[in-house]
Amino acid sequence: MASPHNLNLSSQGTSLKALFTGYLLVVAVGYLMALVQIQLTHGLADGEYGLSVDDIVYSYYGNRSNSLLENKLHGSMKPMATEEERAAIITWIHQGATEEAYENSGIKDIFEAKCIACHNADSGMPIPDYAKFENIRERALVDTGASFQSLARVSHIHLFGIAFIFMFVGLIFSLAAGVPKPLKVLAIITPYAFLLIDIASWWLTKLNPNFAWLVIIAGGSMALAFAFMWLVSMYEMWILPRKHPDDRDALLDQ
Ligand code: HEC
Repeated sequence: MASPHNLNLSSQGTSLKALFTGYLLVVAVGYLMALVQIQLTHGLADGEYGLSVDDIVYSYYGNRSNSLLENKLHGSMKPMATEEERAAIITWIHQGATEEAYENSGIKDIFEAKCIACHNADSGMPIPDYAKFENIRERALVDTGASFQSLARVSHIHLFGIAFIFMFVGLIFSLAAGVPKPLKVLAIITPYAFLLIDIASWWLTKLNPNFAWLVIIAGGSMALAFAFMWLVSMYEMWILPRKHPDDRDALLDQ
């Protein structure tokens, strides 16, 4: 039998609860921002609002019947140029995206007027510089999705960053008194398991588009575990009545 201890959320002092709550609120806002970011980048990959399996396929495997440049002109870069300008660029892509046609058929003028304001070497954004023709040309060829380089970069940032977030969310939640132990262990371990599956599924989707559904399942499971631990922790801190530290029965086996 586990020894009784008073490490349960509801009986903590107000200052520790305030600390935990501040942290939980900030990471929840961070989580919402991440969802907005996913909508704005991946969500628009297929040119329509909302995240779908197609978006995941286009983002990681690529839309191999089209170039990245054309896909972006139907997707997140659609508002950057008029219908006619986009049609002109797309026609140029379909005709082989030559430098000569770029210079002489007005495509360069469109890029200078509509794209280079952001896509330049000094913008400070991690986006290609379109003052250099090679950078445009590369993206006018077939779209094979995220590069291995960018996958490696985003993967390691996610692994380190998200592991840290769930360390503290899990630690706070581990002090909850009202959740049966098996469920508690499951909720704590789920995000870690699905974090690995999620990252692995990006790489698998890069190789085979059928893995896109795994990205969605893994991301969704992580979000569910997060919401569950967050709500239980907040509930036990602020709604559940305080447990008296010497109410031994109530504190056994947490
Ligand atoms: C207001 C700033 C802005 C303007 C103007 C703009 N872009 Fe972008 N572009 C971005 C940002 C930010 C990203 C990265 C986010 C994304 O992919 O949606 C990006 C990404 C891209 C990408 C993907 C780049 C890559 O290699 O990952 C392409 C292609 C692209 N833009 C084309 C265009 C074209 C063509 C125009 C002009 C019609 C244009 N953009 C105008 C800000 C801009």
